[in-house]
Amino acid sequence: MEKLVINGGNPLRGEVNISGAKNAAVAILPASILCDGVCRIENIPNISDVSAIIRILYELGANVRMIDSSTVEIDPRRISKPFVPHDMTRRMRASYYFIGAMLGRFSKARVAPPGGCDLGVRPIDQHIKGFEALGANVTIDSGMVDVCAGQLIGAPVYLDMVSVGATVNIMLAAVRARGLTVIENAAKEPHIVDLANFLNSMGADIRGAGTDVIKIHGVNRLTGTTYSIIPDQIEAGTYMIAAAATGGDVLVKNVIPKHLESISAKLEECGVQVEEFDDAVRISRVGSLQKCNIKTMPHPGFPTDMQPQIAVLLSLAEGTSIISESIWDNRFRYVDQLTHMGAQIQVDGKVAVVDGVCELTGAPVCAPDLRAGAALVIAGLTAKGITEIEEIHHIERGYEQLLEKLTALGANIHRVKMLPQIIDKAVNG
Ligand code: EPU
Repeated sequence: MEKLVINGGNPLRGEVNISGAKNAAVAILPASILCDGVCRIENIPNISDVSAIIRILYELGANVRMIDSSTVEIDPRRISKPFVPHDMTRRMRASYYFIGAMLGRFSKARVAPPGGCDLGVRPIDQHIKGFEALGANVTIDSGMVDVCAGQLIGAPVYLDMVSVGATVNIMLAAVRARGLTVIENAAKEPHIVDLANFLNSMGADIRGAGTDVIKIHGVNRLTGTTYSIIPDQIEAGTYMIAAAATGGDVLVKNVIPKHLESISAKLEECGVQVEEFDDAVRISRVGSLQKCNIKTMPHPGFPTDMQPQIAVLLSLAEGTSIISESIWDNRFRYVDQLTHMGAQIQVDGKVAVVDGVCELTGAPVCAPDLRAGAALVIAGLTAKGITEIEEIHHIERGYEQLLEKLTALGANIHRVKMLPQIIDKAVNG
């Protein structure tokens, strides 16, 4: 087991390249099952969630060939059993995209329920509602989700809440169904548009992705394609906030600035300078940080996946900021850890009141989930003294070469092996 050790206080300076989007990759890779040919997928991020999805494809029988660390070729034609057991799904949320993809391909699927970050209750009722609308019979039996249809038939599906996962899963199931499926109140995140573009590049007929009504005319067959995944909005946002929090000056490259508008707007409100280029944003700060209020919302609102990171920034701002979390019930689990570092945050349900402090101080902390882990890294970069972060496997699920990228920006950050007696103490109490 390893931990990150950060000696804080260095402003980040220089350039950083953003990798492919995790939440697009984890939808697009399972979607390759739907085609009768070879998909070459480029710009995949080299992170553990993506490796886990590629592993599932391989175990299912797909022919998987890594061309280099960011390009994979997948030929799904040898997959015959639409079955994904527990040991493959338990560590990640996106494994449930195999339900939609295999239902779309084989008209049936048997998949263990997904794992992923503990952000509160994570039901899949809207996914099930969509599958049933298309004519599938869904049962949960011996802890497995069983989905089966004679022939999938396109239908209107109204989502009771905006759900990224349900929108993706219904698109996957509907793309080869007979007739027209209309998803209303669909999610509009950039990765939804990316998935639609990928499927369309294989011959699908999907219109309206990026708006709240997506129309899918089912097609008989999808063919192989070559496709490059969009840059990661959340990875980019994390470096933007790290640059701002440390009082640095960083050019965040290989991004789509439009996807970052809600983050840029909030940074500017906090007194941070944001300069936009065609495929880069430059973040710099010289003066003090100002308070600002945040409410997380589905895209194009402020992303919940940036909420822990901006809480660190607001901890260092002058005045009191309010953060309202409207997507997840349990997304303030990092607050205890930040308070060990001197932050002053009071949480009441889904609202946090952040009183700015002059500085954070290094402390031993533990990453409770992926984005909370990223927030603790930012806190460590700004803090006076040494911060040690345990449970870094959460962070590795979503950030490619975090240590290398931060080191190149001037951070003093190392990965250190934990001594066996310390691990023993942590495990046995
Ligand atoms: N919801 C339901 N029923 C459903 C589906 C969702 O009640 O059937 C609720 C959820 O409980 C939540 C809200 O609807 O309160 C939104 O959930 P959504 O389905 O949009 O989330 P998700 O698809 O499970 C994805 C990302 C998350 C990100 C959310 C919101 C992936 C693999 N995960 O999760 O990303 O927080 O959308 O934008 O795309 C992360 O990357 O760190 C991460 C957690």
